Amino acid sequence: MKAIILAAGQGTRMKSDLAKVMHPILGKPVVRYVVEAARDAGCAEITVVVGKDGEEIKKGLAGIGGLTFAVQEKQLGTGDAVRAGKDGIQPGDDVLILCGDMPLITAEFIREMAAAEKNADAVVAACFLPDAGDFGRVYDNGGDFLEIVEARDLTAAHSHTDWANTGIYLFKGEGLLRGLLAGHTLKNNNAQREYYLTDVPKIMSQAGARVRVFHSRADMSVFTGINTQAQLAEAVGFMRARVNARHMAAGVRMLDPASAFIDAAAKIARGVVIYPGVILEGACEIGENAVLGPNSHLTATIVGANAAVRNSVANSAKIGAHTEVGPFAYLRPGAVIGEKCRVGNFVEVKNATLGNGTKMAHLAYIGDADVGSGVNYSCGAITANYDGAKKHRTKIGDNAFIGSNVNLIAPVEIGENGFVAAGSTITDDLPPCALGIARERQCTKLNWTNK
Ligand code: UD1
Ligand code: CA
Repeated sequence: MKAIILAAGQGTRMKSDLAKVMHPILGKPVVRYVVEAARDAGCAEITVVVGKDGEEIKKGLAGIGGLTFAVQEKQLGTGDAVRAGKDGIQPGDDVLILCGDMPLITAEFIREMAAAEKNADAVVAACFLPDAGDFGRVYDNGGDFLEIVEARDLTAAHSHTDWANTGIYLFKGEGLLRGLLAGHTLKNNNAQREYYLTDVPKIMSQAGARVRVFHSRADMSVFTGINTQAQLAEAVGFMRARVNARHMAAGVRMLDPASAFIDAAAKIARGVVIYPGVILEGACEIGENAVLGPNSHLTATIVGANAAVRNSVANSAKIGAHTEVGPFAYLRPGAVIGEKCRVGNFVEVKNATLGNGTKMAHLAYIGDADVGSGVNYSCGAITANYDGAKKHRTKIGDNAFIGSNVNLIAPVEIGENGFVAAGSTITDDLPPCALGIARERQCTKLNWTNK
């Protein structure tokens, strides 16, 4: 089976600068879902018909093999779009046509449709939609196709039908190629002055071909098309439910799936517990039995097994097994936290590595640093990593102790088992096992307030 995916439309109803089919759903462009569904259903050759946003769409589909792009210069309608994409089609091919703006379509649906009508020259998929709005209406006689009438072309002469055009078709190559011939057959004498693909099955059946309607029982959780921002939001809702259900089926426990926003790319191991208000963006990987949330926002972050991330934000970070993050921690890009660590409340880590068992329990900043294992980094300690022009690194050896309210003025190195006294501002390297103390002595004046 070959596929042609229509993605050249301008999507004016989105009122967006982004190409319609490039709008993201759970971090993945709309059109990528469609291409993946076609591929998963067994389409080895897929042609994507694009318009002026072609380059952007190519980028959105990067990494998927077997794709050809065809350009439809002017958006003259869905029939014209298929015509632009027909170059690879041979008369003997089975051709699947999908709209690039229907991200919820599944490989199962395509297989079911193909299996339902094996001996037809064309199959039109219709869905049960009594209140069909913008959808074309499908008329048939016991499954034999009669016609599709676009919503805008409906007249009082058309009877009501509960069946709407999904925009998904299977054609035998021969009939499709003949039905598309410009001028002769396909005309644009309709409300939109467009060449409608929906006229092709009619042309075929009038020429004696066997054209069947596949009456699908699937609902809008499969057929929602993205024509407006509101429909995009609806599709996101359906896709979220689908993704979350997949994770729960694999043993992830979600206290409130309706409040979990998990990108399509996330990998979550079994036994993970997700509290309300968790957002996972990009390629997050969550290890077995980790606990996320409540209210944590992780972007492209890897969390080890049995770790916990509570009320925290992490971006491009790595969190080791059995490590506790939060509440209210902020891990910025390049934060690599070892195993059995603790990064507590109001701690910010940026571009820094923490060895196993290191603890920063509260109110601390560490940036551009290499921290060993077993280090205690106390409340209020910071690295002064930026001199106004350049960033400098701080190194802290294994089992060092950094007291409260310490300023480490980078570049600086604290040796293994080094000890920095509370309140010190450290500008010079501290050798292993040394004590560094750099603060004013206290001066006590007795009975001072009595005066
Ligand atoms: C189309 C169908 C309608 C069906 C609906 C289902 C036609 C005439 N109408 O209407 O019966 O109920 O889909 O969603 O086919 N496109 C191009 N080039 C063009 C025009 C469109 O590539 O010149 C692409 C669009 O990018 C989109 C798809 O074709 O992915 C459908 O086009 P759209 O304008 O959204 O059609 P609908 O009005 O939704
Ligand atoms: Ca559409």
